[in-house]
Amino acid sequence: MGLFKNYVSQTRKPEGFLGKMMIKGMNSGHAKMADWGMEHLKTEALSEIIDIGCGGGRNAGELLRKYPSAKVTAIDYSPLSVEQAAAYNKDAIAQGRCAVQQGDVSSLALEENGYDLATAFETIYFWPGLEQCFTEVAKVLKPGGYFMIVNESDGLDAASQKFEKIIDGMKTYTVDQIEAALRAAGFGKIKTDHHKSKPWITVIARKGE
Ligand SMILES: C[S@@+](CC[C@H](N)C(=O)[O-])C[C@H]1O[C@@H](n2cnc3c(N)ncnc32)[C@H](O)[C@@H]1O
Repeated sequence: MGLFKNYVSQTRKPEGFLGKMMIKGMNSGHAKMADWGMEHLKTEALSEIIDIGCGGGRNAGELLRKYPSAKVTAIDYSPLSVEQAAAYNKDAIAQGRCAVQQGDVSSLALEENGYDLATAFETIYFWPGLEQCFTEVAKVLKPGGYFMIVNESDGLDAASQKFEKIIDGMKTYTVDQIEAALRAAGFGKIKTDHHKSKPWITVIARKGE
């Protein structure tokens, strides 16, 4: 595998030295997009939040700042992401406000009906089947709980089409494809937004009617 392919493929499941570099790059490189996505969230008090595919944990940290009375559980199937996200959020972990766990979204070993909000930043491209994974997310959300997806790609932009060809197992989605999978997984009300000048999308779906 060429170095470039090896490096960009670290987005799928970071590991080793290149994975560590990629995680640092994602924490800073995704910040503007993630913050734009989070602006769509209401500021009402939430108690339990899960960030799935947490990578280096920067977004979990921002959720902790936005929701000062909430506990944030950050999940990733990469042991390196778990290690890095735990280091990033070590103070919140010590305060009992954050937990970082290894887990795969396709089979979430978490409390059913336990979470007010689930977030997924730049990660659904790698999930093994949207509908099945969204069904898992719905399972752990409280009735009426929200699931927010934030992607740098709207499924049509040239850059992501290029990366899809390079990174094995990556698949980009349009808003329509995401909406269809969410509805099939038991989500009702869905709101979407497209950034005015970039191919960024935010999709927020409510569990139930
Ligand atoms: C491109 S990174 C994004 C990381 C972070 N959310 C961000 O915005 O910087 C994708 C992350 O999703 C994780 N991931 C991919 N598939 C996953 C799965 N099936 N279950 C849990 N995590 C997954 C990867 O290990 C990686 O850390």
